[in-house]
Amino acid sequence: MRMVQVGVLGMGKWWVQVGLKSPDVEVAGYVDINPDHLKAIQDEFDIAPSQCFVDFDEALKELKPDAVLIVTPPQFHEPIAVKAMEAGCHVLTEKPLADTWEACLRTVEAVRRTGRIMMVAQNYRYRPEIQTLRNTLRSGRFGAPGQVLINFTRGPHFGGFREEMPYPLIIDMSIHHYDLMRYILDADPVRLTAFSWNPPWSWYRGDASSVSRIDMIPRAKPGSNAGQHPIHVTYHASWCTRGGTTPWNGNWMIYCESGYLEMIDNQIYAQASDDAAKEPIPIEPMDLTDQAYLLRAFYEAVRDGRQPETSAEDNLRSIEMVFRTVESCESGQTVQLTGGA
Ligand SMILES: NC(=O)c1ccc[n+]([C@@H]2O[C@H](COP(=O)([O-])OP(=O)(O)OC[C@H]3O[C@@H](n4cnc5c(N)ncnc54)[C@H](O)[C@@H]3O)[C@@H](O)[C@H]2O)c1
Repeated sequence: MRMVQVGVLGMGKWWVQVGLKSPDVEVAGYVDINPDHLKAIQDEFDIAPSQCFVDFDEALKELKPDAVLIVTPPQFHEPIAVKAMEAGCHVLTEKPLADTWEACLRTVEAVRRTGRIMMVAQNYRYRPEIQTLRNTLRSGRFGAPGQVLINFTRGPHFGGFREEMPYPLIIDMSIHHYDLMRYILDADPVRLTAFSWNPPWSWYRGDASSVSRIDMIPRAKPGSNAGQHPIHVTYHASWCTRGGTTPWNGNWMIYCESGYLEMIDNQIYAQASDDAAKEPIPIEPMDLTDQAYLLRAFYEAVRDGRQPETSAEDNLRSIEMVFRTVESCESGQTVQLTGGA
C-alpha cells in the first residue's frame, strides 16, 4: 500500500518513524504547508527532498497514493480527508475525526458516498493494559459493570494550538477517554451532563478542567439481558494540575455486580468481594501497540476491503461525546446522544 503522510511535526514525526518501520506500507511522500518542518524530517530521517511537498494536490497528482495519513491540527482533517477520498484514497486520520460535529458528519457522509475506508487513530485502545482490562471485564467473572469512576489529571505545557483553542482538554484529549469508555465497557453513551472550568493558574486560554456524568447502555450480547441497565460513569479530568499526575490512560475504578476492577498507574487489580484481597491481574503483552498497531490494522482493513474497528463511522459515537460535553458545559443542561442517527 502506497501512502502519503500530511503533517510532519509533533505527532507527525512519530508517524514518520512508524511508517519507515512498517513492513506493510510504503510511505511514498510527505506533505506539510511549512517547508521548515519538511526539511527537519529530511535531515532527521534521511528522506529525499523529492518525496516532500508543500501542496497536497500536487502530491496526490504526482504520487497517486492508495492511502493518505492525516496528522495536521484538527480543523484541517475534514478538508484533507474529503479531498483524499474523492481522489480515490483510503484515509487514516489522527484523532479527532474533525473539529466540529457537523464536520464529522460531513466526513462520514463522504466515506459512504465514495465507498473508501476511513480509520481514526484511537491508539489508546491498543495498549496491553487496556486490552487486559477489557478482556478481564469481558470474561464475565465480576459480572456486569454498574458504575465507573475515571480520574485523569496532568499538567503538560504543549505550547501551540492547544493553548489557544476553546476546551483544549475536552476536544483534544477527552476523545481518547470517551472512546476507551465505549471500548472497555462495551457500551454506548445515551445521556451526558458536564461542567468545565479553567483553574486560576491555567496556562490555557480555554477551559482545561472538566467533570462529566455519562449514562451508557451496554451493547446487547446474544442470550444476555445486557442493554437494560445503564452504566453510570463519572469522568474527572484536567490538563492543568500541578502534582497528582495520572498516566495518560487515566486511573479507572470499575464497580461490577459481583466484584471490582481497577487500573491505577497502569496496573490492574481485581477484588471478588469486599472482604477479598486485591488480586493483581497480569498484563497481557502485545506485539504491536498504539500507532504501529493502527497502521497494521489499517493496512489489513484496506487489504480485506472492510472498515476497521475504529472506523470513522464507529467514531461518531465517541466524538459525539466530545461535542455534547461542550454543549452541556455551555448550556448547563443534560444532553441526549444519538450517534448521528
Ligand atoms: N493519538 C495521539 O495520541 C495524539 C498525540 C498527539 C497529537 N495527536 C493529534 O495529531 C494531530 C497533529 O497534532 P500535532 O501535535 O502533531 O500538531 P503540530 O502542530 O505539532 O503539527 C501539525 C503539522 O501540520 C502542519 N499543517 C498544518 N496545516 C496543514 C495543512 N493544511 N496541510 C498540511 N500540513 C499542515 C503544520 O505545519 C505542522 O507541521 C492532531 O489532530 C492531534 O490531536 C494525536
